[in-house]
Amino acid sequence: MNFRKICSSLCLFSMLASITSSRPSSAKGSDTVAAAVSASANSKPVEQDSARLPLSVRPTNYALTFEPDAKSFTFKGTANINITISAQTSVIVLNAADLTISEASIRTPKDGLQNATVQLEAAKEQARLSFKSQLAPGQYVLNLRFKGSLNDQLRGFYRSAYVDEKGSTKYMFVTQMEPTDARRMFPSFDEPAFKSTFQITAIVDPQYTVISNAPVAKIERQGNGKKVVAFDKTPVMSSYLVALIVGDLKASQSKTANGIPITVWTTPGKESLAECALNTAVEILPVQEKYFGIPYPGKKLDLIALPDFGAGAMENLGAITFRESRLLLDSKTGTNFLKRVIAGIEAHEMAHQWFGDLVTMQWWDDLWLNEAFATWMATKTVNTIRPEWRALARSVETRNFAMGDDQLQSTRPIHAHVANPSDAIEMFDGITYEKGASILRMLEVFVGEETFQKGIHDYLSSHAFGNAKTEELWDAIATATGSSVPVLELMKPWVYQPGFPLLAITQQSPDREIKLEQKRFFAASDAPSSKALWQIPITFHPLQSQLQPSQSQSQSQSQSQSQSQSVSTPASTFTSAEQKVQTKLFTEAQGSLEAGDLKDAAFANKDGSGFYRVMYAQQDFQTICAKFAQLSAEERLSFISDTHALAVSGKIPVENLLNLLLKVKDENDPLVLLNLVRLFYLPYPSMDAGSVPAYQRFVQVHLSPLKDRLGWDAKDGEPELNKDLRSEVLTQLGTYGQDKKTIDEAFEKYHRYMQDSKSVSPDVVTAMLTAVAFNGSDAEYDEMIAAWKLAKAPEDEKRFLQSLTHFRKPEIVSKVLALIVSGQIRGQDAPSILGSLLEHFDTQHQAWEFTKTNWTKLVKQFPPTSMRHVAGACMYFHRKSDEQELKSFFATHKVPFGESTLARALEDVHISVLYEERYANRVRQWVVNHDTFDLKQ
Ligand code: BES
Ligand code: ZN
Repeated sequence: MNFRKICSSLCLFSMLASITSSRPSSAKGSDTVAAAVSASANSKPVEQDSARLPLSVRPTNYALTFEPDAKSFTFKGTANINITISAQTSVIVLNAADLTISEASIRTPKDGLQNATVQLEAAKEQARLSFKSQLAPGQYVLNLRFKGSLNDQLRGFYRSAYVDEKGSTKYMFVTQMEPTDARRMFPSFDEPAFKSTFQITAIVDPQYTVISNAPVAKIERQGNGKKVVAFDKTPVMSSYLVALIVGDLKASQSKTANGIPITVWTTPGKESLAECALNTAVEILPVQEKYFGIPYPGKKLDLIALPDFGAGAMENLGAITFRESRLLLDSKTGTNFLKRVIAGIEAHEMAHQWFGDLVTMQWWDDLWLNEAFATWMATKTVNTIRPEWRALARSVETRNFAMGDDQLQSTRPIHAHVANPSDAIEMFDGITYEKGASILRMLEVFVGEETFQKGIHDYLSSHAFGNAKTEELWDAIATATGSSVPVLELMKPWVYQPGFPLLAITQQSPDREIKLEQKRFFAASDAPSSKALWQIPITFHPLQSQLQPSQSQSQSQSQSQSQSQSVSTPASTFTSAEQKVQTKLFTEAQGSLEAGDLKDAAFANKDGSGFYRVMYAQQDFQTICAKFAQLSAEERLSFISDTHALAVSGKIPVENLLNLLLKVKDENDPLVLLNLVRLFYLPYPSMDAGSVPAYQRFVQVHLSPLKDRLGWDAKDGEPELNKDLRSEVLTQLGTYGQDKKTIDEAFEKYHRYMQDSKSVSPDVVTAMLTAVAFNGSDAEYDEMIAAWKLAKAPEDEKRFLQSLTHFRKPEIVSKVLALIVSGQIRGQDAPSILGSLLEHFDTQHQAWEFTKTNWTKLVKQFPPTSMRHVAGACMYFHRKSDEQELKSFFATHKVPFGESTLARALEDVHISVLYEERYANRVRQWVVNHDTFDLKQ
């Protein structure tokens, strides 16, 4: 039972970590995986890098025209590329895939126009242009004429379909380039370090609106009636950021933030759903501009909702594209949850305008520079504009989630070798995003917020419109600390080593000394041991003999930052000037540290900001449990996660974990409660037929009091996170907990809701639908299908579709499976629906039979990079026989773009099998002993 398995679809970070179908599935309805680009990729032979382009030819400007043909789903294009040649050559190599190049020539100062012979190398996705004579170093213009297809694979220049208000199918033509699909739209030097300006022109039917990275420069009519839309020259940027959107687009009203016009674009009829996104973006831009101390790098910002989109959103400079369901919100029925998703995703993509677009990683092996920073910056931004959402405290959930991936043997270092497009795609995973963001948080807490911010500013301004590597970020931050913190050294193991340490506290003695050891932590109890060491910044939080609940309250509101300064002795101790908090760098395998005023036990990861787990001696564990309320909310979240992982790995008794569930009785913080309540599913897979009733009673007994307190409806003035908590409690009671009262209420509300969607508070609709589907039959299935087809708001559409995966009757599951391949569900959604069926306990075996039987068909039908979703969802199996079955199937079936995702999923299954073997009996016993109030005392 891996931590990732507990994270329900209701948790924001997994949503953000996940929401895309190009990122593989792990948590329910979500998608993150650890890719072992790792070991395997690191040992790949260098020859595979031959798909890289030579550095001796570099573009400086692309003048591009595109003319899409809506009838044949093809496009024509021309490119005039200014290049600089630095070493004499008669061959120019650039990238092209699925393009036909009909003409290629170069204008040379001496010979005028010289034609090239074009050789396409499909496997390398390259075009070789050979010239008769040598080209001396200098500047040239390459001229190319080409054709491509407006494909339906959600990559390159592709078509997206929607049904308009009159009921007819319409198309728009849109781009998604990252990581390596610009080459499907135009011959290009398609690597992030070949930055250039772009002058884009589109020739389209007159009814279309066209958007690109830069503002429109001019619009003209051709004699044949076509509209020619020419855009300004873009700032210097990488090819993976090029955007072109052609369609019947409707604009929201535009608003200006710090002088930058911001507009949200939708298909006709959805303009009214843009308000939340527009207003939130207007709030975000000034916050980020202020943080970076650098003006927004574009002239305008368009936010475009696309009906078909593989990822969640894409940070194209000045023209950010989104899935509709990540940007559009119905102000009457929209959930609070979606408001958070919109803010989070906008903040992430807008942060990229600086971190990624203005300064770009040199190569995909440093993708984390882009994604981890955007993830961390989104947390900081959202925390600034909506403190009530407690995004900063929730960053511990991000840490916990990342550790779920990183505690596998099949994990990889944050920085990993990337040789080809497939490796680049596999880099978009939980290690890049969530681990990356977590180590940035750890560093920020260590050096202090202001110092970190200064380092970021200096890094961005010194590499503006250029590229950078990890070391250059560390240099900038080290310089900002006045060279007092050896940032490069400190961060090296976190970036270049896979995994993270377990800190074992072997002894806490009254003389303020704590004895400890570090060792790489693995979730699998049969993993070999490792000698890897980390530089671990440790800040202790000494617990008081007497409870001081007020203190813990205030701590839980904010993540305290220790402004660390170097002091001369000992060299590894950094003392906070403001808070007198000492942070120590622990670098040895074993040693002892002074813990400050150690009256009782000390908690060894203040505010959970360290990317390590802590194992305490049993007695200290109990002391910490007894003084749970003294821990900050962040600390409680990290303690719950550590306890979970340690129990799974067999390093501590499983009862330590199960006993934590009983904390729901005294816990008051909704965020901590949410994390505890999610864990209530944990014992379920270990139950046998005889113990299921005891499990149900256990859930009912412990969660009903919470439910009674929260009710179905939001209370005025309640903490924002009560909404998440309420939804989670209702889901647990209405599904596996089989609480009759909750189920009856869900049905009753459901019947009203289907008549009048405003009769139920939006924030409990998902929980209600989940409970109804889980306990429902044909009638409800038919109604939900009908409601899905009629849904207007993307959020409703998604919610009804997702609800279908909770039905358990085999005949209904068969219908959902048939629907997946029927062509009625969009390619962007179908893989995650199959994924959910593979994840859910009662449907997974039936879904697996289907997957196995239809594998070849699915590979053909689903978007190319989305099969990793399906492989990722297999992590939820937990029987020995399942493990064998999966292994033998995948031994002969390759997962496109998903080998590392698969490796992680299989390892997760293995871990669950080991856990069940070790603990299933004890879990059953514990549940039977805790299914009434009286016995639990
Ligand atoms: N750069 C990515 C989009 C992307 C993802 C491109 C995968 C290619 C492959 C974008 O910035 C991103 O990270 N989007 C996230 C949302 C974010 C809030 C975590 C996504 O699409 O899931
Ligand atoms: Zn991103």
